[in-house]
Amino acid sequence: MIAFSLSLPTLLVAAVAQAELSFETKPRKTLEKSINWGQCSPELEESNGANVTIQCACLAVPLDYTNHSNKATIDLELLRVPALRGPNKGSILLNFGGPGGDGRHSLANTSTQYSVASNYVHDLIAFDPRGTVNTLRTSCMNNEENSVFTAKYPMFSNVSDVQLSHHWVGSEILANACYKNMSNFGHLIGTGTTARDLMSVVDALGEDGLLRFWGISYGTVLGATVAAMFPDRMDKLVLDAVVNAHEYYNGYEFEYLTKADAALSGFFEGCIGNASNCALANGNATAAQLENQFYEYLWNIKVNPWLFNGNASIDYVTLKDYMLEAIYAPESWPATAIALDGLYKGNATALIKASIGTSMSEEGTPNAMFAIRCSDKRVEEKSRNHLFQISREKYTLSNIAGDTDGFQEMACAHWRMPSKELYEGDLFHVTTKNPVLFIGNTYDPVTPVESARNMSAAFYGSVTLEHFGYGHSSFAQQSACTFRAIRAYFNEGQLPPVNSTCIPDVTLFSGLGIDHVIAIVDKSE
Ligand SMILES: *[C@@H]1O[C@H](CO)[C@@H](O)[C@H](O)[C@H]1NC(C)=O
Ligand SMILES: *[C@@H]1O[C@H](CO)[C@@H](O)[C@H](O)[C@H]1NC(C)=O
Ligand SMILES: *[C@@H]1O[C@H](CO)[C@@H](O)[C@H](O)[C@H]1NC(C)=O
Ligand SMILES: *[C@@H]1O[C@H](CO)[C@@H](O)[C@H](O)[C@H]1NC(C)=O
Ligand SMILES: *[C@@H]1O[C@H](CO)[C@@H](O)[C@H](O)[C@H]1NC(C)=O
Ligand SMILES: *[C@@H]1O[C@H](CO)[C@@H](O)[C@H](O)[C@H]1NC(C)=O
Ligand SMILES: *[C@@H]1O[C@H](CO)[C@@H](O)[C@H](O)[C@H]1NC(C)=O
Ligand SMILES: *[C@@H]1O[C@H](CO)[C@@H](O)[C@H](O)[C@H]1NC(C)=O
Ligand SMILES: *[C@@H]1O[C@H](CO)[C@@H](O)[C@H](O)[C@H]1NC(C)=O
Ligand SMILES: *[C@@H]1O[C@H](CO)[C@@H](O)[C@H](O)[C@H]1NC(C)=O
Ligand SMILES: *[C@@H]1O[C@H](CO)[C@@H](O)[C@H](O)[C@H]1NC(C)=O
Repeated sequence: MIAFSLSLPTLLVAAVAQAELSFETKPRKTLEKSINWGQCSPELEESNGANVTIQCACLAVPLDYTNHSNKATIDLELLRVPALRGPNKGSILLNFGGPGGDGRHSLANTSTQYSVASNYVHDLIAFDPRGTVNTLRTSCMNNEENSVFTAKYPMFSNVSDVQLSHHWVGSEILANACYKNMSNFGHLIGTGTTARDLMSVVDALGEDGLLRFWGISYGTVLGATVAAMFPDRMDKLVLDAVVNAHEYYNGYEFEYLTKADAALSGFFEGCIGNASNCALANGNATAAQLENQFYEYLWNIKVNPWLFNGNASIDYVTLKDYMLEAIYAPESWPATAIALDGLYKGNATALIKASIGTSMSEEGTPNAMFAIRCSDKRVEEKSRNHLFQISREKYTLSNIAGDTDGFQEMACAHWRMPSKELYEGDLFHVTTKNPVLFIGNTYDPVTPVESARNMSAAFYGSVTLEHFGYGHSSFAQQSACTFRAIRAYFNEGQLPPVNSTCIPDVTLFSGLGIDHVIAIVDKSE
């Protein structure tokens, strides 16, 4: 399951800020009882996409909640977007996924959609979770070593028929490197511990002592976990782009692939549906023909890569990486069509340009996805043959994404720092103080509605809202109907009826964006 971003740096040697091993602790007696909000760094202000007030703070929390004689603390780094309107209905904590994604930058960058969908009356708060940024930062290899490593072990296992065995060895190298550098804190970055951090923030906020939470993608695993650990302290939880947490914790992950191929088909269907805005839709080709053309090209360059501009290899890894990124974000599809059209004609300029700057290592903390996900996993059967069999089983579930995850699963089989606090209770029967709202995209390439329904079955009184959209999370292809449902839930505690559905207002290949949806929502108020 890769719910944050798929790409590893393949073409490029990205300059990433040098990882600093951040493991400063304070004695626990300095634990603050409240949060003192102040200015954010200029760097965070720069990513303040909505140009709204943002405030930052640190909160000291126990390093190890399981050991009361350990008085050490760590600082959580928080960012808040205060409610833009009154009366204030309390804070909502957010997590944007990964695992391995940050909190502060993501909230600063994308606060608009969350403000609109919560009707501007809640403070929005996010912190960088353990394992990321400066908080017990994951550190396995330095940047140079990491670039060499990812070039040597591209994530796609179907790149050649010996790649699985290479992955088996490479994933052990990674697990060992992480262990060497992080063995003193690697067992303290799991989701169970981060769930306790959420409640520490709730305590320090001094509101009603209840959690309001909005989790996207892996954030839904965190949400389900905190709800199972503290059911009596749950006010409202929106879990959007839902991960099957049973698979995440207890085994290998398959369900996330359910709609990956349909998501790719949607790209070609959307193209034909609005041909005037799609560079690929020349003549009378059908969506199925465009899709065939894509796969023929992909299988061809797998065997016959070509060189663009004298320095860029156009190969299986390049193109798959690019397309997988693209199916997360329908907004990017007109540009994707231009890039593919150029590519087929021998001009890879747009594709190369788009590939640079979207890599995982720049968005998240390198290897943090491995570190958090693997420390959370409880799997019994870890033999090489079993892992190979798991990978091959995934091949049968999706052509476009079936070979993306084998390396990670193998790294988890080799992982040496299991989380000290794995949730041991019953995640199949949870009764929260207030019911949870699950949202699932029909054609989400990594978190399909099937997983939302699966998780909803475990949470008493919860409801799944099906959002008939493409891309990753309901914000990928926005709908006024979904915004209204979220507002009614957070503001009034009202759940949508069972089996509700919402249709996006942003149609595919239309060039429309959030402003279009805001106009519809505001008109209906
Ligand atoms: C927000 O993030 C997007 C995607 O990473 C980026 O293109 C954009 O420049 C960012 N906006 C700001 C204001 O930083
Ligand atoms: C942000 O808002 C401030 C004050 O509201 C305004 O002066 C400034 O021009 C805005 N900046 C941008 C980039 O919109
Ligand atoms: C608990 O913390 C104390 C003090 O730091 C330490 O000596 C002890 O080894 C820890 N116990 C466990 C089980 O981690
Ligand atoms: C991790 O340790 C290796 C040596 O084992 C070292 O080369 C590398 O720089 C360390 N990485 C980080 C991020 O500290
Ligand atoms: C498009 O139509 C023309 C004539 O109507 C036909 O010759 C051609 O094969 C068609 N192209 C495709 C891709 O179907
Ligand atoms: C590749 O070559 C092009 C054109 O000469 C140049 O603009 C680009 O910066 C080069 N890219 C890399 C990664 O060296
Ligand atoms: C190649 O593609 C780029 C980006 O779409 C475009 O700007 C450029 O004009 C194209 N070059 C040629 C020779 O067609
Ligand atoms: C693996 O690659 C072969 C072609 O080399 C292709 O036929 C097959 O569909 C691919 N499977 C996956 C899951 O990528
Ligand atoms: C949810 O998924 C888990 C893991 O695959 C499975 O064991 C469970 O039966 C599913 N629950 C429902 C209600 O489908
Ligand atoms: C919801 O949909 C399911 C599956 O189609 C159906 O079995 C169930 O009766 C529906 N529930 C309501 C309240 O409509
Ligand atoms: C097609 O795209 C145009 C913009 O290029 C947009 O105005 C129009 O609404 C879109 N049509 C559909 C059916 O989405």
